[in-house]
Order: sequence, then structure tokens, then C-alpha cells
Amino acid sequence: MSDTELIAAARAAAEKAYAPYSDYPVGAALRFEDGAIVTGTNIENASYGLSLCAETLAVSKALAEGRRGGLQTVAVVGPVGKGGDAPITPCGRCRQTLNEIAQLGGTDPLILCVGANDVVEVRLSTLLPHSFGPAHLD
Ligand code: THU
Repeated sequence: MSDTELIAAARAAAEKAYAPYSDYPVGAALRFEDGAIVTGTNIENASYGLSLCAETLAVSKALAEGRRGGLQTVAVVGPVGKGGDAPITPCGRCRQTLNEIAQLGGTDPLILCVGANDVVEVRLSTLLPHSFGPAHLD
């Protein structure tokens, strides 16, 4: 799957968002070294703080499927027309969540942060330098 298709998969995932409180649907798509794609979307809750981000849900799904590494690329898509059309970057908790599965497999995934007019490509290690992860607990 190409980067363009991965972004399309994230966009399709965002269509399933449950985001009635923020009205800010987000989609994430993870691509693994074996070609597998795992998607997620944000799932909010009437108790706001319990809401789950798209990236966190995607990583949880991947781990629940038994994946323990091989994370190559992540596409994140937010709603068009909000935030000045700026590319969406994963929130702090999502960076840490992505770091867990990345570090398990020793990869530094490229994050495709999709905006209305451009895509910012940034390595997870740039978004989360000096990260704490599973290797610290070995
Ligand atoms: N959100 C994500 O799904 N991913 C992010 O990286 C940033 C924020 C969600 C959480 C909440 O449901 C909505 O976007 C507004 O913050």
C-alpha cells in the first residue's frame, strides 16, 4: 500500500469516528513491515477524559492482534477546515503509545501528519525524543 493509500485508509477510518463532543473526527492508519494495515479512529465518551484517540485505538488493535513490532508508517488525518488546515500531529499520549509498539520492534516509524494542503513527514523519535519505553524495563 502506498503512502497515498495509507492516508486514504486513515481518512476512511475517520468516517467512523465517534466524536460527538469535540466534533473533531480523526483517523489513523498503521502500516507494518509485512504490509498489514491497522486503522483506528477517535472514540469519545460522555465522561470526556475517557475518550480515546485514533492513534491509541489503532495501536491497541494492533497489539490485540498480536503484533509486537514492525511498525513502519503511520498516517494521521483530522477534519478539513479546522485548526487553520494545519497538519494534525499526534497528541502526547499517542506519541507514547506509538513508541511502545515501535520500540518493541526496534523501528522508528515515519508519521504522516496530514493537513488540508500538505503532509508533514516526521519520525516518531523527533516527535518524542529521549523516550521512555519497554527497553528501560528490561
Ligand atoms: N485526537 C486524536 O484522535 N488524535 C490526536 O492525536 C489528537 C486528538 C482526538 C481526541 C478528541 O476526540 C478529539 O481529537 C479532539 O481533541
